[in-house]
Amino acid sequence: MKLAIIGYGKMGGRIEEIAAKRGHEIVAVIDLHAKEKTTRLGAEIAASFDAADNLGRADAAIEFTQPDSVVGNIQELSRRRIPAVIGTTNWYNRLDEVRRVIEADGSRLLYAPNFSLGVNVFYRVVSYAAQLMDSFPEYDAGGYEIHHNEKKESPSGTAKTIAEKIIAAMERKKTPVWDALDRPPLPEELHFASLRVGAEPGAHAVYFDSAADTIEIKHTARNRDGFALGAVRCAEWLAGKEDADVERDVQPRRVFTIDDFLEDM
Ligand SMILES: NC(=O)c1ccc[n+]([C@@H]2O[C@H](COP(=O)([O-])OP(=O)(O)OC[C@H]3O[C@@H](n4cnc5c(N)ncnc54)[C@H](OP(=O)(O)O)[C@@H]3O)[C@@H](O)[C@H]2O)c1
Repeated sequence: MKLAIIGYGKMGGRIEEIAAKRGHEIVAVIDLHAKEKTTRLGAEIAASFDAADNLGRADAAIEFTQPDSVVGNIQELSRRRIPAVIGTTNWYNRLDEVRRVIEADGSRLLYAPNFSLGVNVFYRVVSYAAQLMDSFPEYDAGGYEIHHNEKKESPSGTAKTIAEKIIAAMERKKTPVWDALDRPPLPEELHFASLRVGAEPGAHAVYFDSAADTIEIKHTARNRDGFALGAVRCAEWLAGKEDADVERDVQPRRVFTIDDFLEDM
C-alpha cells in the first residue's frame, strides 16, 4: 500500500516506522515543520497539501494532528478521494458535517478515539464480563486508570468509554462517579478512580468484587506502538474496502469506526 502521513509528531513518527515494517511505501508526509523537500524513507516531505505532489499516489492517509486542524485535513483528503484514517481526538462534535463532506465527495473515512487493538478487544471482554456479572448481585463493579504525571485530563477518555460499556451491560449500575468519595458509593454508582504517577503510558483495570473473591481485568499499554499498529491495520482495511464492496455488488458505506474493522476481523 502507498501511504500518506498527515502530522509528524509523536504518533506520525511511530506510524512511519510501523508502516514501513509492514511493507508499505510512505509516499508523502505532511509535516508542518518540514524545512525542505528531503527524502525520509523514500517519502516526499511537504509543509502543506498543495506542496505534496505525491499525495495523489496514496492508497490511504493516516492523520494524527490536533483538533483545530483535523476537519480541514479531512476535507483536503476527501476532495482528493484518499481514504482517511483519523487518529486525532476531540473533534467529534463536527462528525455530522464531516459525514456530509465524505458522502458528497464519495470518499471514505475511519476514525477511532483509541486505535489500540488491545484496548478495543478489552472493551468487548469487559462488556461481556459485565453482562454476566449483572445476574450476580454478590459482585460489585468498579475500576481504575493510571497515567503518567503529565496527562492533562482525568479521567482518561478510555476510562469514560469503559464506564459507558459497563453501565450499558449492567442494569444494576447507572451512574459513573470519578472523584474521591467522602461517602460509600450508592449501589447504582460505578466508582472509577484515576492515579497520576511517573511515566506510566496508560493502564485501565476493571474490578468485579464479592466477599469471596475478585476478578480483575486489566489492560496495560507499553508505549504508543499499539495505537500506530491499529491505525496502520485500519488503513490497510479501509484501502481495500471499496474493491471488496464492488466484488460483492453492494452500495459502499463511507464512514467507519474501528468497530467495523474489528467486526470484519
Ligand atoms: N486515536 C488514538 O489512538 C490516539 C493515540 C494517540 C494520540 N491521539 C491523538 O492524536 C493527536 C496527535 O497526537 P500526537 O501525540 O502525535 O501529538 P503531537 O506530538 O503534538 O503531534 C501532532 C503533530 O501534528 C502537527 N500538526 C498540527 N496541525 C497540522 C496540520 N494541519 N497539518 C499537518 N500537521 C499538523 C503538529 O505540529 P505543531 O507541533 O506545530 O502543532 C505536531 O507536529 C492528538 O489529538 C492525540 O490526542 C490519538
